[in-house]
Amino acid sequence: MKDIFTAPFVEEMRNTTANMYRLGWDERNGGNISYLLDEKEVGEYLDLNHVIRTIPLGFDATAIIGKIFIVTGTGKYFKNVDTDPERNLGVVRIAADGQTAELLWGYSDGGKFTSEFPAHLMSHMARLSVDPANRVVMHCHPTYTLAMNYVHELDEKKFTHTLWEMCTECIVVFPDGIGVLPWMLCGTNSIGEATAEKMKEFRLVVWGMHGIYGAGKTMDETFGLIETVEKAAQIYMLTAHLPRINTIRDEQMKELAEYFGVHYRKDFLNL
Ligand code: 13P
Ligand code: ZN
Repeated sequence: MKDIFTAPFVEEMRNTTANMYRLGWDERNGGNISYLLDEKEVGEYLDLNHVIRTIPLGFDATAIIGKIFIVTGTGKYFKNVDTDPERNLGVVRIAADGQTAELLWGYSDGGKFTSEFPAHLMSHMARLSVDPANRVVMHCHPTYTLAMNYVHELDEKKFTHTLWEMCTECIVVFPDGIGVLPWMLCGTNSIGEATAEKMKEFRLVVWGMHGIYGAGKTMDETFGLIETVEKAAQIYMLTAHLPRINTIRDEQMKELAEYFGVHYRKDFLNL
């Protein structure tokens, strides 16, 4: 059996949480990541027949029975994941009843997965239904994206359009746009269901006055989506109070999307 501390998926979680913390997206215990793993790969590091303990999910995950995830722990600080992954992360498998998670590694202080696990697992299910290669769901509180929530209309088309205008590459990076939810109580099945509904259409979902969700095939892709939104939101917040002299026009965005061959939300442009 190989040493789990050398597993690429543990390393990716350590590096990504550290990067997100340094960027100021994850103060205190803010943010969470779940990463769908390959059973064969996990089997190289862990005895898949050894369940440390079981943890109730609180919702139905029948559609993903047997799937294994590495997930950040609830109440855990991203800044501490790198130095103590075994306490701050857990590897869990969805049990045969679809209602319980089996802990295979981690949460060494008796902890459990993020309180946002409903939103994560429901988002995984939604993304897998439209993209079988999806692996990662990431949530965080990026500063400028959040600031923008207070001064910009929380309308999907308008929010996406404003961000597309802020950096030339935005429409190429997230051509599918951004789903937007109003403020809702976090940690609940209801916000999970609402997020998953948006995830059928978008890889990015803003939680009004809270933060953002991203989903993707790899850690880099998912991180890059949120990073690009946050950069665009930063440009917006640096310029929103100043007279706008120049902008990227809708015809130019169309030209970009067509040149790079991306499938974009035509109805989010005003052409
Ligand atoms: P957890 O500590 O339970 O992951 O919650 C953090 C968070 O960002 C809630 O939305
Ligand atoms: Zn949050």
